[in-house]
Amino acid sequence: MDEPVIYTKPKLGIFDSGVGGFSVLEEIRSVTSADILYFGDCARAPYGNRSMGEICMFMKEIIANLKLQEVTHFVSACNSMSVTMTDKILKDSGIENSKYVDMIKVFKEYVKFDNGSKAIIFGTKATISSGAYQEVLTEKNVEVGQYAFKTLAGLIERKASDGDLYEVVSSGMNYAKKIGATHIIYGCTHYPLISKIFENCARDIKWDGEFINPAKYVAKAVSKWNLEGEKNTSFEASEVTYTFKFLSEKYEI
Ligand code: DGL
Repeated sequence: MDEPVIYTKPKLGIFDSGVGGFSVLEEIRSVTSADILYFGDCARAPYGNRSMGEICMFMKEIIANLKLQEVTHFVSACNSMSVTMTDKILKDSGIENSKYVDMIKVFKEYVKFDNGSKAIIFGTKATISSGAYQEVLTEKNVEVGQYAFKTLAGLIERKASDGDLYEVVSSGMNYAKKIGATHIIYGCTHYPLISKIFENCARDIKWDGEFINPAKYVAKAVSKWNLEGEKNTSFEASEVTYTFKFLSEKYEI
């Protein structure tokens, strides 16, 4: 007798501390028709000033929740989670490494720099203090700078005014210019959501380097999964904040 063929429909789970992952969803949606479930832990965002232990615990909970909802492929759209003990978390959660991508994993795989580049990583306290990006850049013989924004992700979560965001952004941008950075890496997925503010500030202070958004590499990795689906996108949050509602409506297809 033939064995029954059990077919599990692929479902992509994208998760972040809050709304930052929408910048990753935007890149991913253009390369796959897979059904996507986006989860934002807005009730506990931002994660960036929390301890590694706490962030690991939250990540485990999120993955368990996505598994219950039949997610088959996982995208950590949060650098502050991507730099934790992901191998252990995946093992404990019973997820194969081949069905998981995160920001740092893809950055390591795909980023390329010309000789003589100096890249500064902009990120949360958790991401910067983990040293994960710095390690990759050093391996690639790129001179490294770093700048931790302690409040920026939280301000974006709360939809702060452009003026307030500009003020915070300009402190990091001036520092990048001062150290002679040729590239700025968006090491927090919240930051590309306000790329216009970063770009305006770059123009105002006459910094003419290049911004790198690792979410583009996530899309590249996801496209290799060749997942097919109905292109449904659903959204879930631990708290549906004003910003979450606004962005989920924007990205609803
Ligand atoms: N968007 C996240 C990241 O890429 C988290 C920011 C935060 O919650 O502080 O790091």
